[in-house]
Amino acid sequence: MSAAEPVDLTVADLHPALGDPALTSMNFLNEVSERYPAAVSLAAGRPYEEFFDLAAVHRHLDTFHRHLVDDLGHRPEQARRLLLQYGRTKGIVHHLIARNLAVDEGITVDPEGIVVTVGCQEAMFLVLRALRAGPTDVLLAVAPTYVGLTGAARLVDLPVWPVAGGPTGVDLADLAAQVHRARAAGLRPRACYVMPDFANPSGVSIDATHRQRLLDLAAREDLLLLEDNPYGLFHSEDGPRPPTLKALDTGRRVVYLGSFAKTVLPGARVGYVVADQRVAGPDGRVGPLADQLAMIKSMVTVNTSPIAQAVIGGRLLEHGCSLVAANTRERSAYTRNLRHLVAGLTRRFPDQPDQPDGPAVRWTVPAGGFFVVVTVPFPVDDALLDRSARDYGVLWTPMAHFYDDTAPVCALRLSVSAVTPEQIDVGLDRLTALITDELARRAG
Ligand SMILES: Cc1ncc(COP(=O)(O)O)c(C=O)c1O
Repeated sequence: MSAAEPVDLTVADLHPALGDPALTSMNFLNEVSERYPAAVSLAAGRPYEEFFDLAAVHRHLDTFHRHLVDDLGHRPEQARRLLLQYGRTKGIVHHLIARNLAVDEGITVDPEGIVVTVGCQEAMFLVLRALRAGPTDVLLAVAPTYVGLTGAARLVDLPVWPVAGGPTGVDLADLAAQVHRARAAGLRPRACYVMPDFANPSGVSIDATHRQRLLDLAAREDLLLLEDNPYGLFHSEDGPRPPTLKALDTGRRVVYLGSFAKTVLPGARVGYVVADQRVAGPDGRVGPLADQLAMIKSMVTVNTSPIAQAVIGGRLLEHGCSLVAANTRERSAYTRNLRHLVAGLTRRFPDQPDQPDGPAVRWTVPAGGFFVVVTVPFPVDDALLDRSARDYGVLWTPMAHFYDDTAPVCALRLSVSAVTPEQIDVGLDRLTALITDELARRAG
């Protein structure tokens, strides 16, 4: 429809979040990839599709159904009802999620503190909706920030204050400074959003020492931490993973956000939140924050599809509730791809002349996860992405999408999760051609 045609509503009359870059970002990136279907995509953070298995989905459903009858003692009609009827708002696989967190992460949590959600995205929305009590509330978030978090915050009118990430994954001095600055301005920082493991988009992880310091700071400043952990299982180095913040959390400071999109199936749209903070009600009764989130959920999605939950539950049951065990193939594919991408960049940009602040083209070498950030000596914007897709046949994500301002950003995010090593080679050849041409164009 053209702008000249009669309209019934304008965006300006709708919620102010509509039209905000945080909400249009994902659509824009999807549109670019739809417009250039032949382009190699190093943009999508989707999991590897080669392991998708429809027959396994049916099996998982059956496994969970048997669990209801054989392990939990439900009569057949009860089990059928649980799977096919409207159901418990907080979900029906909470006990298996609690077991998974104990097995894989050493987290002990009462299943009643868990809400099973429609993806992690809904979990973020519920938590932010609950925390945003009034106009002086703000959310702190380590920058660059996952755009889904920024978008959810916009929808509940919660301003997001960036906290520097830096090489340690969170700049603790800056976090303390932002808390003080907000309070001095009469504002109330409700929580800080952080991704300690292979963050999206930076790929950076927080080491064990800084995790403990972050928790200490949260306790000192009376701040909640929202820990988002979709990529933690995909470490590429052998040896133990650092404990999650939630595993170290002795003071119920951490609200833990989980997703099964990367570890089981994105199409199931199942995630969860561990919200075991104790909330006093107006009648003096105390219950977990999860109960308050469930109240919001009952007015948003009512309950997460029990069929989808059953698929996740079955997969968990088939692997002793360990997603580490369930993801050995996936982990090695992502590790192989990450190493292939980093080696490919090293080969394609060797021996660069020294610049005052290091080589002109630089990249991160994450210890796991899906993402590598490439820094270049020119601003990377949507127009360059469009040109890259059209003229060079390669897609990536401008890092500018992960910052909540309009300042130019000279970096792009590459993802290794949905491609083969051969596609990585083709994609990197094309990206190298783009960068080389761009450097030559700017040089004169
Ligand atoms: C950091 C982060 N959090 C949350 C999500 C959303 O997860 P879900 O698909 O479970 O909604 C993603 C998806 O890419 C993500 O990267």
